[in-house]
Amino acid sequence: MKNFYKMLPKPFFALAPMDDVTDTVFRQIIAGLSRPDYMLTEFVNVDGLMSPGRHNLEVKLKFSIQEKPLVAQLWGKNPTNFFNIAQEIKTMGFSGIDLNMGCPDKTVVKNGCCSALINNRQLAKEIILATVEGAGELPVSVKTRLGFNQIDLSWHEFLLSLPIQLLTVHMRTKKDMSKIAAQWDYMTKIKQLRDSINPDILLVGNGDVDNRQTGLKLAQQYQIDGIMIGRGILKNPLAFSLESDQWNQYSITQKINLFKAHLDSFNSTYNEHADARLFKLFKFAKLYLNGFNNSSDLRQKIMTQKSIEAVNKILDDFMTNL
Ligand SMILES: Cc1cc2nc3c(=O)[nH]c(=O)nc-3n(C[C@H](O)[C@H](O)[C@H](O)COP(=O)(O)O)c2cc1C
Repeated sequence: MKNFYKMLPKPFFALAPMDDVTDTVFRQIIAGLSRPDYMLTEFVNVDGLMSPGRHNLEVKLKFSIQEKPLVAQLWGKNPTNFFNIAQEIKTMGFSGIDLNMGCPDKTVVKNGCCSALINNRQLAKEIILATVEGAGELPVSVKTRLGFNQIDLSWHEFLLSLPIQLLTVHMRTKKDMSKIAAQWDYMTKIKQLRDSINPDILLVGNGDVDNRQTGLKLAQQYQIDGIMIGRGILKNPLAFSLESDQWNQYSITQKINLFKAHLDSFNSTYNEHADARLFKLFKFAKLYLNGFNNSSDLRQKIMTQKSIEAVNKILDDFMTNL
């Protein structure tokens, strides 16, 4: 299989992995509206995938053809599990494997995973090498931050010396969480490191980019290969389009119908678990049911419902009374 990253136009745009947000359902919605050049799954734990509890995680690896190219994002601790899961991912139709070395979540860090690897380079290296070996021809990338408690560019220098195909940097440290603005200035130095250590590794910037226009400016300013957009998509599902402001022109019916399409797909994806997971859908209410009269009341009403059927009925009643 080819390294699909090399075939992308520059600068390219990616949808960020977001746990409980960018599942197969939402990725399909975005693919149908204004598609990025590639997308990533939510992060999936390799140690969990190699355990008896695996079935609970398998849904995170579900996808449909229109989401491609799709990159599976993995996290965990045991290099052998990374090797085994990479071998499996290779047979599943994914276009690449991304390694999460940036998540700042307390439990994850306490367990020595994700951003904790910034301070455990031996294990980070073992994980990368094991994944690369298991992945065969599939490209392997790393998504990380600017450092752990402080900016630490020796980390990027280290990563750029390893056999990865792409590096995504969320321009904050682990300590920053998402509390301060992304520090894009540091991209100049990271780009210099990339150019001098291994110009073949593609460099992607991430943090506070809300739409394509802003992304294009940053890619031009720092001369990087790509831009990743995360939370911006929860404000505007057309974030990847040059005409992202067309979202403001969407009629109430169009917005509600999009939400209904999301609900239907959610229902068929999660089947008997859909109603129990309904609360996970409420974050999307703010996206679709926004910017029109009584949208806030409609959202409030929906957030108290316990079934997809009940939510659908409220939406249908609202549209009938328009
Ligand atoms: C709800 C949520 C879930 C996230 N889950 C993941 C994840 O599974 N893997 C990952 O690498 N980053 C995850 N992130 C971080 C984003 O991918 C991204 O790096 C971060 O939001 C900064 O980009 P933005 O300013 O464009 O949102 C998550 C962020 C949010 C808000």
